[in-house]
Amino acid sequence: MPEEKEMEKGKETSSRKQDHLRICAGGNVEAGFSGFSDVRLVHAALPECSLAELDLSTAFLGHRFASPLFIAAMTGGHRDAAPVNRNLAAAAERAGIGMGVGSQRAALEDPDLEDTFTVVREAAPRAFLCANLGVVQLRDHGIEWAERAVEMIDAQAICIHANFLQEAVMPEGDHDARGCLAALAALCREFDTPVILKETGAGISRETARRLWAAGVAAIDLGGLGGTSWARVECLRSPGTPQARIGDRFSDWGIPTVVSLAEVAGTGPVIATGGVRSGLDMARGLALGADLCGMALPFLAPAMESEEAVSGAIERFTRELGVAMFLSGAGTVKAMRSVRTYITGTTRQMIRKRQEIPDGS
Ligand SMILES: Cc1cc2nc3c(=O)[nH]c(=O)nc-3n(C[C@H](O)[C@H](O)[C@H](O)COP(=O)(O)O)c2cc1C
Repeated sequence: MPEEKEMEKGKETSSRKQDHLRICAGGNVEAGFSGFSDVRLVHAALPECSLAELDLSTAFLGHRFASPLFIAAMTGGHRDAAPVNRNLAAAAERAGIGMGVGSQRAALEDPDLEDTFTVVREAAPRAFLCANLGVVQLRDHGIEWAERAVEMIDAQAICIHANFLQEAVMPEGDHDARGCLAALAALCREFDTPVILKETGAGISRETARRLWAAGVAAIDLGGLGGTSWARVECLRSPGTPQARIGDRFSDWGIPTVVSLAEVAGTGPVIATGGVRSGLDMARGLALGADLCGMALPFLAPAMESEEAVSGAIERFTRELGVAMFLSGAGTVKAMRSVRTYITGTTRQMIRKRQEIPDGS
């Protein structure tokens, strides 16, 4: 009865995903600090560009985007997710930006849930879409699951997510990470679709990035500390339990997004996600070397409301990015990437500490 067993697991995964959406929508799921407030862009008193004629378009993995804003993976795999995914996808299509879907595990275990993901491609026939699978599921089920995830939404890339902080907090989580890097390398070798390794809130160090490039990933999504905290989400999911206590203890574990960016930028294509909360944060991320800037939580409430609400949020972030670019004297995204920054506080200290370590170590 292996199929029935898979369907049973699908139901468990689906109900956990539904809990996550409900808890994140309820607020108070952010923890730690991203470092963005420690970054100042150098003001250009004579910008020599026009606010009305900025070029926000950019390229990533051979695709053209209207803006470097990326809607990071959030949902799918339970009934409440379908309208949320439809609203996100329709707004992404309209804005010409990319989007990732949430983990497709539940639909791979129980095909009845596939429509909560396929709705994304229906609403966004031309958008750049990223499939999503956990690195543990990749290790345990092999390339076939990655192929099915990509086919399900006709994706241009696949995000393989690493969430060992969350897994470690959950008593029923996957506590054995052995073999994941080898599985990732095998996928990169044998798969035509670009593979993005994605953290989910604890960041990527330079050492890990080096191993990921060697494994053959096409890009890294940093998923740094300072935004949605999965330790906190798991704490809120089981109040008063040992899981909640350990979740609380580790809620600010990880590498702040800006520090992670400083460690990884320049080594390959990078998406900066984790606590990006405005177009100004996006401009800061670009100046520090990000190719795209991802946001998840800021789109959740709008996506639960309507497509128009998501479009409104995209417009607001885009306007803020434009103002930051104009005041930095950057008429294009490429120019924004060479704007000088001042970095202060703990973020500066952490970056300095890393710079003291000789490269190659
Ligand atoms: C409700 C919700 C569900 C998420 N589900 C997934 C998921 O299934 N797969 C994944 O790779 N990341 C998932 N994430 C993580 C985000 O993609 C992102 O890496 C993280 O939330 C940090 O970004 P933020 O601070 O802007 O929320 C989820 C985030 C939220 C808020």
